[in-house]
Amino acid sequence: MNQLKIEAAFDVFANENDLNKEDLHLLQSAKVALNNAYAPYSKFLVGAAILLENDVIVTGNNQENAAYPSGMCAERVAAFHASSLYPNIKFKTIAISVKSENRCIDIPVSPCGACRQSLLEYEVKFNYPIRLIMSGEKGEVYISKSIVNLLPIAFNINNL
Ligand code: THU
Repeated sequence: MNQLKIEAAFDVFANENDLNKEDLHLLQSAKVALNNAYAPYSKFLVGAAILLENDVIVTGNNQENAAYPSGMCAERVAAFHASSLYPNIKFKTIAISVKSENRCIDIPVSPCGACRQSLLEYEVKFNYPIRLIMSGEKGEVYISKSIVNLLPIAFNINNL
């Protein structure tokens, strides 16, 4: 028997002020975007900002629904918006920020499984790693060098 071993590494920053200028700007765009989240049920506001290769930043936020599964996460709102506007432009980096109306979130928010799968689609489509910046309201910031780092052995177009 053989074993397939997978390691995932994340850069950890003490807080957002340790980020470089471009990453900080993107994270701030995500923070602004979360203010337009529609999250009356969870009161958990999420913002996402995607930096495209043409230097445009496309944002999104979570949109909830009384029929709960009909809502959509911030990351997918942003990714689908970006791809609908610029179908042929690579995603370089996505930043995620969060604010809860119930408590202060001091650990970085990380994309749900469905968002990982959706983001991976664009990584595979463009054959280009998408950096991921994850943050809470305050505290540490994690950076992943790619989406597949969070979703190893993923199902993708090559499996079809
Ligand atoms: N949510 C996101 O928008 N992104 C994430 O990464 C995690 C969860 C949303 C979905 C729902 O509107 C709320 O946060 C609580 O799960």
